[in-house]
Amino acid sequence: MLTSVLHAEIYEQPEAIRRMLDAETDRVAELARALAARDCRYAIIAARGTSDNAARYAQYLMGASLGLPVALATPSLHTRYGARLRFDGALAIGISQSGTSPDICAVIEDARRSGAPTVAITNNLDSNLARAAEFVIPLHAGPERSVAATKTYTTQLAALALLTLSIAGDTTGLAGLAAVPEAMAATLALDARMQEIAGAMADAVAAVTIGRGYHYATAWEIALKLKELTYVPTEPYSAADFQHGPIALVRDDFPITLVATQGAVADDLTTLATRLHELGAHLTAISDVPAILDVADRPAALPVSVEERFAPMTAIVAGQLLAFHLARARGFDPDNPRSIRKVTETR
Ligand code: F6R
Repeated sequence: MLTSVLHAEIYEQPEAIRRMLDAETDRVAELARALAARDCRYAIIAARGTSDNAARYAQYLMGASLGLPVALATPSLHTRYGARLRFDGALAIGISQSGTSPDICAVIEDARRSGAPTVAITNNLDSNLARAAEFVIPLHAGPERSVAATKTYTTQLAALALLTLSIAGDTTGLAGLAAVPEAMAATLALDARMQEIAGAMADAVAAVTIGRGYHYATAWEIALKLKELTYVPTEPYSAADFQHGPIALVRDDFPITLVATQGAVADDLTTLATRLHELGAHLTAISDVPAILDVADRPAALPVSVEERFAPMTAIVAGQLLAFHLARARGFDPDNPRSIRKVTETR
C-alpha cells in the first residue's frame, strides 16, 4: 500500500487517546469540581464540521449521563445578527481542532462575558479559542497533518467522555473509557475488509449513512468523510428520521451504510436493516449485532464490543477506513482532497 498521512493518522488514534487520558484525567477531575460549584442547567456547544459531529455525540452522552440538555450553538447569531443571547444556567463548550474559527470563538467569548463557565476542547493551546475560554481541555493528538480530521475527532469524543464521566463521578465509566484505546486498536484489523467493501462501492453516485442515538454522530462523521474524500454525495440520517420520508430514496442497489452496535437502539436498527434489505438497498453494516450483520450485504463486524456510549470511538475507525479506501478505489488521493484546506475560518 502506498504511504498516506491520513492512513497513518487513523492508526495513531489509540495512542492519542491514551496520551490525552494520561495527561488530562486529574485535571478534568478538578475542572468537574469547579463546574459543580456553578449552576449548569444545560450545555451549548459551538463547533463546525467534524468538531460539530463530536458535539452531536455530547448531546447523547451528557443527556444520558447527566440529564443535561445539550444544544448546538448558532454562531451566526453572534457574528452576523448582533443577537445578545442569554446564557444563564449554561455551560458553554467550544470544540475545535485548530481553535481558530472566529465564529466559534465569538460564541465562547459572548458566553464568558455573560458569566457562564466556558470550556475549550482543542488541539491548539496557542489559539484564540483556548484563550477565550475559562477552562481548556487539550487533545494531545499531536499535529494532525491530514486535511481530513481523524485523531482529533476521536480524542474530542474521548475528552467529552472524560468530562462527562468526571462530572458524574462515574468511576466505573472512567475505567471503561480507559479500555477504549485497546478496542480501537483491535478495530484497525478491519482495514482489509473496508478496502473490499470500498471496492464494491466504487461506482456509487449517492449514498446514505444511518445511525441512531450515540451513532447519530457516527453517521454524520462518516458522511462528512465520504463527501470530502470520495466526493460521493452522502446524507447522514437518524434511523428514525430516515423512515419519515427519505426511505423513499431506496431502490435496488442504493448504497446505505448502517452503524449499529449493541445497546438501547439495536432492536430498532435490526428491524430497519431488514426493511432496507427487503427494499433492495445495498447495505454495509458496521456492527457487532449478529442479526444486523446477517442481513447486511457487506457486513463489517466490529471485532470488540464496548459499552454503547463508547462505541462511536471504535465504529468510526471502520468508517474512516471506508472513506480512505473508497477515495483510492475512485482514483482520488485521500491526502489531498480537492477544494478544502486544513483550517477553515468562518465569521
Ligand atoms: C473534516 C474537517 C473539517 C473541520 C472543520 C472544523 O475532516 O477537516 O470539517 O472539522 O473545518 O475545524 P476545527 O475543528 O479546526 O474548528
